[in-house]
Amino acid sequence: MKKKMKVVFIIIGIIGVLIMGLLIMATILGKEVTVKTDKQLEGVAEDVESVLYYASLAPNSHNSQMWKIQLNTKAGELFVGVDESRVLEVVDSAKREAYISLGCYLTNLQTAFEAYGYDIKLDVYDKPDENGFISKITYKKTRDKVDYTALKTIEKRHTDKSVYKDTPITQDVADAITLDNSICYLDGSDNFAYLKKGTLDAIMVQSANQAYRDELAEWMRFSDGEVLEKQDGISAEQMGLKGMVKTFYYWTTSHESAKGDTFAKQGINTAKNQLEGCKGFLAVTGDNTIKGWVNSGLDSEKIWLKCVEQNISVQPMSAMLETEPFAQSIQKDLGTDKPVQMILRIGYVNEYGKNRNIRRDLKEYISVER
Ligand SMILES: Cc1cc2nc3c(=O)[nH]c(=O)nc-3n(C[C@H](O)[C@H](O)[C@H](O)COP(=O)(O)O)c2cc1C
Repeated sequence: MKKKMKVVFIIIGIIGVLIMGLLIMATILGKEVTVKTDKQLEGVAEDVESVLYYASLAPNSHNSQMWKIQLNTKAGELFVGVDESRVLEVVDSAKREAYISLGCYLTNLQTAFEAYGYDIKLDVYDKPDENGFISKITYKKTRDKVDYTALKTIEKRHTDKSVYKDTPITQDVADAITLDNSICYLDGSDNFAYLKKGTLDAIMVQSANQAYRDELAEWMRFSDGEVLEKQDGISAEQMGLKGMVKTFYYWTTSHESAKGDTFAKQGINTAKNQLEGCKGFLAVTGDNTIKGWVNSGLDSEKIWLKCVEQNISVQPMSAMLETEPFAQSIQKDLGTDKPVQMILRIGYVNEYGKNRNIRRDLKEYISVER
């Protein structure tokens, strides 16, 4: 009997040690991945390389980084357009979000150029030119002093998918972050309740659509190796997963399983929790034209950088704008002057965090003419 007990204890001990070992390994493997984006562009001044890197830290749908840039160093000119191969065909067949993302890129570009002492002139065309460019920027160095605070704000901005704190957003803070073409809906108002319910309903419609699931799965990343190789898409870190939770997520999920029912159900549950803790939404409005979308992107990123200054965390929740019948009726239902182009969930968190810096090497999408 005693011998039997001893054997049982030994087995329990071995299992315990194995589990501990597994947990320690999972924690070690779960450390944050660091993408070292190559900023070098032949014949380009170092501060302009930095500006271009800061611009790329802009928000963009699915982190597909669908921008293409042409730089003419002699003339001090830069052209920005959509890389068609990176457009999200299912959720964004009209390229609305692609152009909003370019607008976000342009705000970061402008902010970073100015931070490095450049004056810039930004033109947004009505429609893309024959080379597919929608915007031209001319830049000229006029000052030597660098505004590090502005650069830090860009580095800090990130999409925070966590559940926010219960702390209400005061009207004063709402006023400070509501810039041109935006409206803040705080918890307690009818329009807040409408966005909260509509967003979850739209996410449920999307999640039932296999084409949507397939596209999302394509842009999700399921190992550090994949993140380092592709330098784009949505990593575990961007989902708010760290340590052993990140490792188990990578061990148990793949591009194939992410297309299935279980993953879709988890996505709906995550959204439910995100919306349950939500204290406010910001809606950004603008014209339904290509230029209007770029302008909405410019506005959205200015608002987001303001949110960073106010320690307000942000997550775009685009499902209503990507899905019928919600997209058709949202402007009328909210009673806004112009169509709604972005919906941002806003709130407070304990630790603000920073951008995960998963961005491609500059030479991958920037061509330089000298
Ligand atoms: C037009 C647009 C739509 C977006 N829609 C969503 C969304 O519905 N849900 C979400 O979690 N993030 C959304 N995002 C955030 C992107 O996923 C995020 O910007 C990208 O993954 C890069 O991460 P970062 O913002 O932390 O740099 C959206 C961003 C843009 C510009």
